[in-house]
Amino acid sequence: MRIGILTAGGDCPGLNAVIRSIVHRAVAGHGDQVIGFEDGYKGLLDGHYRPLDLTTVSGILARGGTILGSARLERGRLQEAVRDVPELTKRLGIDALIPIGGEGTLTAARMLSEAGMPVVGVPKTIDNDISATDRTFGFDTAVGVATEAMDRLKTTAESHQRVMVVEVMGRHAGWIALESGMAGGAHGICLPERAFDPADLVKMVEERFARGKKFAVIAVAEGAHPADGTMDYGKGEVDQYGHERFLGIGTALAVELEHRLGKEAKPVILGHVQRGGTPTAYDRVLATRFGWHAVEAAHRGDFGHMTALRGTEIEMVPLAEAVTELKRVPEERMAEAESVF
Ligand code: F6P
Repeated sequence: MRIGILTAGGDCPGLNAVIRSIVHRAVAGHGDQVIGFEDGYKGLLDGHYRPLDLTTVSGILARGGTILGSARLERGRLQEAVRDVPELTKRLGIDALIPIGGEGTLTAARMLSEAGMPVVGVPKTIDNDISATDRTFGFDTAVGVATEAMDRLKTTAESHQRVMVVEVMGRHAGWIALESGMAGGAHGICLPERAFDPADLVKMVEERFARGKKFAVIAVAEGAHPADGTMDYGKGEVDQYGHERFLGIGTALAVELEHRLGKEAKPVILGHVQRGGTPTAYDRVLATRFGWHAVEAAHRGDFGHMTALRGTEIEMVPLAEAVTELKRVPEERMAEAESVF
């Protein structure tokens, strides 16, 4: 069998572990040939690929990023390609395509699959918001980075009696903010799933200081937003080159709290540091399991599916199910976190 792999969308710790696992299982386990398309679907459409063997993947397990490169989806070009999938599959000479990616990548995988390409998807996102799988690799690493940041910020915050507003990734779902906030002992958590009122955060900080505490840490997902009419947020600022830029929610909230509290509030934007570097043991294991199951699915002819963690087991679920709606933080999970603020 000749298997093509690609990594698309935002990168994520654990991608190299999946690539390594696929190559080991396919080449050593089944005697397959594996090729890796460069820079996501772009490499697939342009025919840019290289052979992957055991030597190519040696030493990449603990390495962040992706040895294949990644790029965001070019939807127009893909829609064009979908029109003649049999020709494209024949030209590439592949018997199976394993795209590794998030919502956009899996939507594209579904389009290709429905047009006749033999596709097995592998989900990835640090945001952990793909509904069909209990976990995605990369999430554990991101939560670990954000938790360590909060641990470190607490000591400096206490020295200076400051409020730290830590903005973490999560455009549509607040899983990273929720779990790093819980693990890092945040005193407030703001998620995209539920609008927040800055007055509640002001009250929390004032009560802490009244109890003799000298600092506060607030975890904010980048997609969090204030309730209507509670804070003047969303207006652009003009930069030195005349471009309109929006203050991220972390910065805007720190400015708001500093103004209302009369205490220093510092925004800390963790950004892509959460996506870089070495994956945790958990993410390496999950990524390796996903890779093994994707190859087995391809050999069974289980196309149009993706790997998913359900409980402790890996199952194959239809791609159609994978990309229906995002997995959001339920209210009860937020209540668990709030009880220890
Ligand atoms: O989708 C994952 C994610 O990490 C989001 O939380 C974040 O908004 C986005 O990627 C940013 O990615 P980039 O800056 O690479 O476009």
